[in-house]
Amino acid sequence: MGHGQVRRQRQTQVRQSMSNKMWGGRFSERPDAIMEEINVSIDVDRHLYAQDITASKAHAAMLAAQGIITANDAKNIGKGLDTILSEIRKGSFDFKRALEDIHMNVEGRLSELIGPAAGRLHTARSRNDQVATDFRLFVRDTIDDIDAALARYQAALVRRALEHADTVMPGFTHLQTAQPVTLGHHLMAYVEMAARDRGRFRDARKRLNESPLGAAALAGTSFPIDRELTARTLGFDRPMANSLDAVSDRDFVLETLSAASITAVHLSRFAEEIVLWTSPLVGLVRLSDKFTTGSSIMPQKRNPDAAELVRAKTGRVIGALNGLLIVMKGLPLAYQKDMQEDKQGAMEAFAALSLAVRAMTGMVDDLMPEAERMKQAAGDGYATATDLADWLVRTLKMPFRDAHHVTGRIVGLAAKQGVALHELPLSEMQSVEPRITAQALAVLSVESSVKSRTSYGGTAPKNVRAQAKAWQKRLEKEQNSR
Ligand code: ARG
Repeated sequence: MGHGQVRRQRQTQVRQSMSNKMWGGRFSERPDAIMEEINVSIDVDRHLYAQDITASKAHAAMLAAQGIITANDAKNIGKGLDTILSEIRKGSFDFKRALEDIHMNVEGRLSELIGPAAGRLHTARSRNDQVATDFRLFVRDTIDDIDAALARYQAALVRRALEHADTVMPGFTHLQTAQPVTLGHHLMAYVEMAARDRGRFRDARKRLNESPLGAAALAGTSFPIDRELTARTLGFDRPMANSLDAVSDRDFVLETLSAASITAVHLSRFAEEIVLWTSPLVGLVRLSDKFTTGSSIMPQKRNPDAAELVRAKTGRVIGALNGLLIVMKGLPLAYQKDMQEDKQGAMEAFAALSLAVRAMTGMVDDLMPEAERMKQAAGDGYATATDLADWLVRTLKMPFRDAHHVTGRIVGLAAKQGVALHELPLSEMQSVEPRITAQALAVLSVESSVKSRTSYGGTAPKNVRAQAKAWQKRLEKEQNSR
């Protein structure tokens, strides 16, 4: 044997001993460094450790209950998994990149802890149904967290709405002053949006709550497993009916990301309003030092960074949804490694959304309305013109179109003189429509304008108070039943 030959033989032996223990049977060489780099997912899926261990415990207990492994092996597996859980929680667990992902890291450590019995855990199971199960459990937990955060956001909005049921502010269409509304009414609009957002998360949760575990690689298994049992143990409503579907769809992530995207868009719109309202050009609202930052060069600045970042995080959430839709769109059944890319974007998006909800809750608690400025701005731009037109309809029985025309001419007069509608002398109004009386002037104040909007869902303070109180009750009841 030549020198070179001996060296090559030794290298092969070294590589063989380093080939993957989990699936290395027919492999004789270590993966290339680049292969390992593109394949490894432990940096992301380590966040699934709790779900992975919970699912493995359920699987092992089921295997024993079905007589597929011995009760003793199942007991040791359970104990070993508990040890691993506490090692990870303590931060003493050594995550190995060579073991690719969380599943093989856990199993690798298990075999160090309990020996060959660890190798029985993967009976009648594959990483394909394992990862689908883990991620469903993770997304379910995430939905519950976001739902609780949204409930707290709603509670903060309701509190402030009650406080400001009578605070008049300008309502806008086209960002032009339109009609006076109350701040309470405006805040309650976001309570309704958050309620629908929570409904979408609830719907997604209902549909995702089926167990893929036991679908194995793609075709099911020849072992007499009990999928009902593992499903029940893990809090799923039932096992998924088709093994190919169970391992190869990620619609539960897509659906949750869709709900997250719509929620983020709602938060972003409100955040944008806060940015607008706190601008010195507008000045309807102030934020305290707690939710603003200064400028390193301009000492006078108070920047609404939190609101701006809520607005920006929306991009991350929608980006994750788009990203995963594109990952999935060309995939044949069943599992494809592409699906490993489902987790990072989704996890980042859920974290971003959760932070955004909490930041908005903080700002809702913090914001200080400039009530005087709001009231003044509410009357700017002839915002009560509709009230005058309505008065003409109600009192003079004018058709609304004619009343609109008459009011338009009166607004024109006031604009020419540079005065507000209620400052225009009655005689000037009468020059346009002689039947107008002093009584009409009373409807021109912003307070009487909002008070008059008593139709269901309208801005009248008594409506707002009733809505806010009803929501308060609902949220408290929900809180107590948690
Ligand atoms: N890390 C993988 C993922 O997240 C686990 C499943 C691997 N399955 C496989 N057949 N290679 O998708």
